[in-house]
Amino acid sequence: MTEPFETYSLDELRTRTSIKWRRFEPDVLPLWVAEMDAPPVTSVVEALTRTLRAGDLGYASGDTSYAESFAAAAERRWGWTLDVARTVLAADVLTGVREVLLAATRPDDAVLLPTPVYHPLLDMPAGIGRRLVPCPLTAEGRLDLDAIEAGMADPRVRVLLLCSPHNPTGVVHTADELRAVAALADAHDVLVVVDEIHALLVRDGVAFTPWLAVSPRGVVVTSASKAYNMAAIKAAVVVVGDGSADLLERFPVVMPWGASHIGIQAHRAAWDGGDPWIDAVNANIASNVAELRSLLAEHLPAVRYSGQDSTYLAWLDCRALGLGDDPSETFRETGRVAVNPGTEFGPGGEGFVRLNLACSRITLAEAVARMASCVG
Ligand SMILES: Cc1ncc(COP(=O)(O)O)c(C=O)c1O
Repeated sequence: MTEPFETYSLDELRTRTSIKWRRFEPDVLPLWVAEMDAPPVTSVVEALTRTLRAGDLGYASGDTSYAESFAAAAERRWGWTLDVARTVLAADVLTGVREVLLAATRPDDAVLLPTPVYHPLLDMPAGIGRRLVPCPLTAEGRLDLDAIEAGMADPRVRVLLLCSPHNPTGVVHTADELRAVAALADAHDVLVVVDEIHALLVRDGVAFTPWLAVSPRGVVVTSASKAYNMAAIKAAVVVVGDGSADLLERFPVVMPWGASHIGIQAHRAAWDGGDPWIDAVNANIASNVAELRSLLAEHLPAVRYSGQDSTYLAWLDCRALGLGDDPSETFRETGRVAVNPGTEFGPGGEGFVRLNLACSRITLAEAVARMASCVG
């Protein structure tokens, strides 16, 4: 079977019209936004085709079928049993997180957020009239319990927002780390809200721990859109822990209506039938991580990168290259490779870039060669 990222030629991919392929000029290799150069999940194509052919394009029924499909996948993959009665649908993960923050905090309350982190999460508190309190990850990109505890000492901090696994570092928080965070959150009466959208993209041999498997308090927001590479087809689910169930009453009535009927059909087909696809993608990510490490060792040895435990986003420490806080500018302008600037992810991202390695090996090699040409 062809590896997922080896399926399409660059010319074929350039016919795609999503933001990855349209943001920059055609001579720029786009290794930035989190879209994979992979074929769609077969079960999703079949479900969407059936839905479209039947003209089954009305409103979503409002049942718990999405949550049931997710719950079955969560049980299979992580042995986590969740209660579908404590779930609510949302248009997408970011909308779900936003609604949880609105329900759990008051104006001028503060949200604690370990950085560097996926930038829309960073921008979210200010956008809804809440204060952002950034706290650093450790130098290894792990949760810094002392920094989290210091942040929680601010009495206006009502929420700790976690990204698990963490984007952009690809760190998978351990069960022990999450338990320690839960103890701090309990001590300071802080609600932990966890974005688990990357949870299926975890390296073989590394265990992902769902937040609600270690603590009954808190909220998880997730979706099939990232792991199954269908950002275009929106739907997400918010799972509220037993100890935080009062939140369910505070969500707006319209919140679940954001997940469209067709989005729900597609995501259910992914949760139900997408395991072989995920396994193939994870294997391809692992081989590209190894490939990127050896390409960098050969052509850009000053870049620090030791691989990652999760997802297809490589967090490259370019500080030794002398390209300043934002090396991505030189890589794009001179090398014609688009990667995300580390600064986009907040404090701690200076001198880093995030590179999307969910592409063919030829594209990866070409990208590293172009980046190397920028530093002479
Ligand atoms: C950590 C994280 N959360 C949320 C999203 C966006 O999810 P959605 O499109 O469901 O809002 C992304 C997209 O890359 C992400 O990396």
